[in-house]
Amino acid sequence: MALNPFSGPRRRSLLGLATFITMFAVASNLGAQTQPVPVLPGQLPSYTAVLPPHFLTPVILQQDNTPAGNPVTDAGATLGRVLFHDKRLSSNQTVSCSSCHRQAAGFSDPRRFSIGLAGGLTGRNSMGLTNARWYERRAFFWDERAATLEDQVLQPIQNSVEMGMTLPALLTRLSGETFYGPLFNAAFGTPEVTADRISRALAQFVRSLVSTHTKYDAGVPVNFSNFTAEENLGRRLFNGEIGAATCVQCHGTDNFSPGPRINNNGLENPYVDKGVGAISGRAQDEGLFKVPSLRNVALTAPYMHDGRFATLEEVVEFYNSGVVAHPNLSPPLRARPPAQGALRLNLTTTEKAALVAFMKTLTDTSLISDARFTDPFPAVAFHDADQNRDNRISLPELTRVIELFSARKGTVRTGCYLVATTSTEDGFATDPDRSDTAAVTLTRYHAADSDRNGRISLNELLRVLQLYNYRADTLRTGQYRPQSGTEDGFAPGP
Ligand code: HEC
Ligand code: HEC
Repeated sequence: MALNPFSGPRRRSLLGLATFITMFAVASNLGAQTQPVPVLPGQLPSYTAVLPPHFLTPVILQQDNTPAGNPVTDAGATLGRVLFHDKRLSSNQTVSCSSCHRQAAGFSDPRRFSIGLAGGLTGRNSMGLTNARWYERRAFFWDERAATLEDQVLQPIQNSVEMGMTLPALLTRLSGETFYGPLFNAAFGTPEVTADRISRALAQFVRSLVSTHTKYDAGVPVNFSNFTAEENLGRRLFNGEIGAATCVQCHGTDNFSPGPRINNNGLENPYVDKGVGAISGRAQDEGLFKVPSLRNVALTAPYMHDGRFATLEEVVEFYNSGVVAHPNLSPPLRARPPAQGALRLNLTTTEKAALVAFMKTLTDTSLISDARFTDPFPAVAFHDADQNRDNRISLPELTRVIELFSARKGTVRTGCYLVATTSTEDGFATDPDRSDTAAVTLTRYHAADSDRNGRISLNELLRVLQLYNYRADTLRTGQYRPQSGTEDGFAPGP
């Protein structure tokens, strides 16, 4: 094997190895990977949301975007759950909806921009899906470009950055999986896989992500006597009962979603991303963005369509002192005449902290652990590159590792290196059966990341290769945790 980079002398010229990397990335075509089969409960769980009285008010009923032709059924939502977590929906089978809409993050993505099938970044921050069922204007995406949820769910599949799939190819692929027939049959009466059914099932699943079990919900019937003094101060500020804040005017109702208007909240002027204006081309639509329900907002950082704010504290400071005057600025955020420009809240430190404390009462921990919504594909105790699933990385399998790194060398973050339980210096666990829940010391770098910038550069790839080279026979691939996101086994970053 003339081109084996691993059998030669350990010190090679940088150029030489870099060339190998490029060659492997281009030349190796490893074909479709084996994907696991979902494990589902024997009896279908109920996906019918049992709603408390404060969700049955006329104003919230009117926000419900469930169409008459696609009510949530148990079998439909179950199929939707499988589709939502299935990487087969992306052309190279590396990305599922849940790659960018993670349950633990309120079905949003902790990364500022999400990473698609080939390492490319999305143009906007992923949106949390909690209570997406209720939105008076019904449309979806930050710029509302999808008129309905049924329209929306097929778009990421076909988006070239996100999942890069065509619908005909998807129908062929899913029809070829024996487990899908019974799921489509249960949901729609025949095993036939169609785009319309995929759309309806995914929409049903998304609409079933209902949150009504928060500290806030527990507070509604008892006049918030369960709240701390700080949370109640924040609630009254949010509602405009004290102070100048107008949050409730755009994040209103017990679902914390807006009314009939789409708004501009003065993030900048001019807007880099024109939102609705980029679609319509009209100046009066510049900077108009949908805002998803604030439910679970403490879990969905970073914030805004471009993920510009990392914390709720930053968001509150923005509304306090940073709103930018813009011709389209929504009236609630304009200074009260005779003053001009953007509203300034002049909140005290205590008040700012109280607003944040209040928003944290909207967190629903039951939703993020609810087994009806979790990934039904069994956690795979192997690294994606381990194609023959023998828990070892063989020399040929190294090409896949190189490919993964090479595809995303600019964007890969090296994540948490678990020092105590996973002691190899290449970041792979030594023992695939060992749980990582034990107390561990976390350091935020991979040993190959020699400049400690949280990313693996091309030069640092050489070190990865070297590490693999030393232990190609003994390396165990460890526990691959799908929640940690990237298929190369590295966490997506802090
Ligand atoms: C590569 C990352 C990525 C993948 C994969 C992905 N999404 Fe998204 N999703 C996003 C981003 C980013 C947005 C916001 C895009 C925009 O508004 O332009 C979004 C928006 C949405 C919205 C709009 C929410 C709202 O309130 O308007 C829904 C619903 C959604 N995605 C569902 C899905 C489903 C279902 C799938 C799988 C079929 C999926 N997404 C796959 C990143 C992703
Ligand atoms: C005039 C309407 C309006 C008012 C008033 C308003 N917001 Fe917003 N809010 C928006 C819009 C529009 C967005 C999304 C903007 C974007 O991403 O470009 C948003 C986004 C947010 C987000 C980020 C949501 C996410 O998922 O990224 C938070 C948190 C938030 N607002 C909290 C507040 C708080 C707290 C107040 C009161 C101090 C407030 N808002 C007042 C319109 C408003």
